[in-house]
Amino acid sequence: MTMREVAVTAELPGRAVEWLEERCLVRLNAGVQITDENTLIDFIGSADAVLTLLANPVTDRVLAACPDLRVVGNCAVGFDNIDLVAARRRGVWVTNTPDVLTEATADLTWGLILAVTRRLGEAERFLRDGRFHGWALDMLLGSGIQGRQLGVVGFGRIGRAVARRAAGFGMSVAASDVDEHANPDPPARFMALDELLASSHVVTLHTPLNEGTRHLLDEERLRLMPRGAFLVNTARGPLVDEAALVRVLEDGHLGGAGLDVFEMEPAVHPGLLEREDVVLLPHVGSATEETRAAMAELAATNILAVLAGEEPPTPVVRPTDH
Ligand code: DGY
Repeated sequence: MTMREVAVTAELPGRAVEWLEERCLVRLNAGVQITDENTLIDFIGSADAVLTLLANPVTDRVLAACPDLRVVGNCAVGFDNIDLVAARRRGVWVTNTPDVLTEATADLTWGLILAVTRRLGEAERFLRDGRFHGWALDMLLGSGIQGRQLGVVGFGRIGRAVARRAAGFGMSVAASDVDEHANPDPPARFMALDELLASSHVVTLHTPLNEGTRHLLDEERLRLMPRGAFLVNTARGPLVDEAALVRVLEDGHLGGAGLDVFEMEPAVHPGLLEREDVVLLPHVGSATEETRAAMAELAATNILAVLAGEEPPTPVVRPTDH
């Protein structure tokens, strides 16, 4: 029997490559990240499976040019880099890596909430610049969060894990997409998005990116937020109109923003780079050794299952879905 071929677009932590190599012929890209369709098409070639990262654009054109592909195993919970409609139409499985990164991403979200409300980035720059000449009562004052409302947009796995931690910081939780009549776990008050924005001290985004959520926070919605409120985004950059966010920060409407993701990633809007009231991270929400190994291993397990003719643990698109 011929060995199945798996194209792996980047080096992987953990035992993922080892597991794939036990049963397949693995082609590994150890070079620069593949961010364009043509390079991806050349790299996949006649492989039966591809293990992708979120920078790899798995478009209809890529799927059309790689007709032997049976499965795209994305090493991420998000899958906005993949044309799901095209995959379904072309009978290709798509899988993702939910659950294993939930807690790490929720932790990082809280890191950003605390960093932006307590001005941690600015305070660290202040010290490193040699400007700390002794404790002062009015030095680098931030905003307290105790007793305030955290608005969670996207009450899925990560949104709920973020909300669970809110009790520890004395914050109440509002969510825009829980069932108003259900008893959400953890507890959250249902609010329509605009009401949530207008009443939260910190708004945190955990909703997937799709055509319905692109620029979900446009200028009008950003201006609904109370003066001095904070925005945190560890989901996907294009959920926020970044240019509008810069304007809303520039005129002092918002207290600050904590961003792990960007609209034109890896580019960051120059208006953000200049500001002291934003905390900017290079998309590290799930970046712990344990989590990244678990993500890569789950992506490999999904691929191996499909190639063995089995149901993968975490499918997004089944070829039989219509
Ligand atoms: C994902 O998995 O979608 C994140 O953005 C990276 O962990």
